[in-house]
Amino acid sequence: MKLLSGKVAVVTGAARGIGKSIALKLASEGADIAFTDLAIDENGQQTKLEIAAFGVKVKGYASNAANFDDTHNVVAEIMKDFGHINVLVNNAGITRDSLMMRMSEQQWDAVININLKSAFNFIHACTPVMLKQKEGSIINMASVVGVSGNAGQCNYSASKAGLIGLAKSIAKELGSRGIRANAIAPGYIQTDMTENLSTEVKETMMKSISLRRAGTPEDIANVALFLASDLSSYMTGQVLVCDGGMGS
Ligand code: NAI
Repeated sequence: MKLLSGKVAVVTGAARGIGKSIALKLASEGADIAFTDLAIDENGQQTKLEIAAFGVKVKGYASNAANFDDTHNVVAEIMKDFGHINVLVNNAGITRDSLMMRMSEQQWDAVININLKSAFNFIHACTPVMLKQKEGSIINMASVVGVSGNAGQCNYSASKAGLIGLAKSIAKELGSRGIRANAIAPGYIQTDMTENLSTEVKETMMKSISLRRAGTPEDIANVALFLASDLSSYMTGQVLVCDGGMGS
């Protein structure tokens, strides 16, 4: 019996990057996968194929996680297609970096809506299902900068700190009903999101990482598997930092 046999996992923003890696990891342990992204384009189709190779049920849904109604519609569709939801990974996220003095209202709103409100939307839509089941594991993808702050990323850091507060509060609200909520705080992970950082920024970050390498999406997927499964059945309201020793 695999760790997640018979479970259904919803992963947002999973057409590529960390979300894709998490979806694949959960599928490798037997979970059926409902993943979302803005569009199920070539990346999304490829993700679907790779997940299906594990012999689990998989479907990709095009939806904007920042939109409340869209999210409730998608979760209703997922329930029609899969029948239950055991794991929710709030992974969709963006950066719109700028120093505070130069940050536009649009940059602030986009990051808060896509990174933080999206998690509220999905938790709001999925928890009634989890409450009926008396079981569920919610994972919010935060970041080390949500714990430590970062110059040039006040919108992003605030959204990630918000995701931590959200997970901790849900843990307190719903723990007695069998629902766990935790957050992962990754450091510097090699994905399309970090690809465009300047060589200088990458070199500076590398020097601050004890393990002297960037993380891989699979490093984070392993933590997500732990939090999604019963391996972490006595853990809720926690933030697991996975940053190669960057923040320590
Ligand atoms: P990525 O940019 O490669 O992937 C993000 C995915 O989210 C994309 O497929 C994108 O289309 C999707 N997405 C964006 N807006 C969306 C929306 N409104 N609705 C649905 N999907 C949407 O990024 P990466 O690196 O894989 O990041 C995944 C998560 O991990 C993000 O929340 C990010 O903030 C977080 N993270 C990443 C770190 C890194 O170093 N790469 C470090 C710490 C946290």
